[in-house]
Amino acid sequence: MVKVITYGTYDLLHYGHIRLLERAKALGDYLIVGVTSDDYDKSRGKINNQQSLMERVAAVKATGLADEIIVEEYEGQKIDDIRRYDIDIFTVGSDWVGKFDYLKEFCKVVYLPRTEGISSSEIRAEKRKLLIGTVGKGTLCKKFIRETEFVNGVEYKPCGKSLEGVDAVYIATHPKYHYEDVKHALEKGKHVICESPIAMTTEQCRELIALAKEKNLVLTDAIKTAYSTAYSRLLVVAKSGRIGDIVSVDSVCTSLSDGAAMPDADLTNKQNSICAWGPTALLPIFQLLGTNCRSKSIVTKLLDEELNFDGFTKIDFVFDQAVASAKIAKAAKAEGELIITGTKGYIYVPAPWWKTDYFEVRFENQTENKRYFYQLDGEGIRYEIVLFAKAIASDQKNSYVSTEISEAICSIVESFNRREYTTL
Ligand code: CTP
Repeated sequence: MVKVITYGTYDLLHYGHIRLLERAKALGDYLIVGVTSDDYDKSRGKINNQQSLMERVAAVKATGLADEIIVEEYEGQKIDDIRRYDIDIFTVGSDWVGKFDYLKEFCKVVYLPRTEGISSSEIRAEKRKLLIGTVGKGTLCKKFIRETEFVNGVEYKPCGKSLEGVDAVYIATHPKYHYEDVKHALEKGKHVICESPIAMTTEQCRELIALAKEKNLVLTDAIKTAYSTAYSRLLVVAKSGRIGDIVSVDSVCTSLSDGAAMPDADLTNKQNSICAWGPTALLPIFQLLGTNCRSKSIVTKLLDEELNFDGFTKIDFVFDQAVASAKIAKAAKAEGELIITGTKGYIYVPAPWWKTDYFEVRFENQTENKRYFYQLDGEGIRYEIVLFAKAIASDQKNSYVSTEISEAICSIVESFNRREYTTL
């Protein structure tokens, strides 16, 4: 039996793909199709496939041409697959001529002529680009603008206060202006991605969510960690029961970089610790344990009493079955790690956990420990933009950071603003 293998992304499956698969199948008796996973493809610079991995696998399956479908997850997998499946022929389209000659050592390599005049990229490009503007100055906006260049179907377009000429805006002003800025953008009919917290009170947050819903617009918190692959896989592993029941989530986020801790710093236009770090530190707590805590307590050390500017804050939560803590600071330093304690084992994410590409699941018996690695490009901002664009394109208007979590974050900020804390 002659076994053939071929790989591709197969986004928006088209005639060119089908012709390739037909000819690949005709080369032998048994055809294995490797569908490239989203993450692996991102590392090749192809981002924003219109379809998810599941949809692409389903489309290849529907052709009836593949005897077996596998997922391509990592660099170097082709050699492993060829050995594992005892492959005789590796084939791909002629756009790859020469690229896979290194596989000749393991099997026969055949480049099939590519079908002229059609490609997934062209089909994607036919759809109009999403124009995104930014509101705010500073490094966050600069990073966001730079990252739009890596995302297909999205283009940065400068816009003035009137927000003319754009479909969507990224807001990264001082948090005290978020509510007004988000409201203004939604009223102008723009989709919004705003640095978290999106408002200073739960009520304002609810009002914005309702307004977005009424206008059928996407409103989402920009918390780049939420969109990183390692972080989202970690949530799946934590919720899967691998570490048993979760009894504690402890997250630490600190930085001394913006000078807030300097004795003569002007804090008026700087973000306090609760706004700068609170949303990120609270994210895994709310995503893993829910937003209904039995009780919470906040302890803070203020840098400026009048401005309610905290240099260090610790928030402790008690839930029905678990506890949690968030330690955040702009004027104190600690190991920025995330630990999820379970009844069977724990998940450890090393510092700085909020931009991690790696985590470990650890057990009493160390031989059972498992390490997980994922590619993280552009600190997660790139994926954030991809998913924002996808939410706009889809009818569901789903966001990675749910409205409950967005509200729960605002409620903690509100408690802090009301000075419902103990001071050190
Ligand atoms: N292919 C082909 N003819 C086309 C398009 C693709 O023979 N017109 C082949 C590719 O050479 C590859 C397989 O189909 O072997 C899967 O290609 P893929 O990269 O998923 O599709 P493209 O349409 O090339 O995607 P893109 O435009 O994003 O590069």
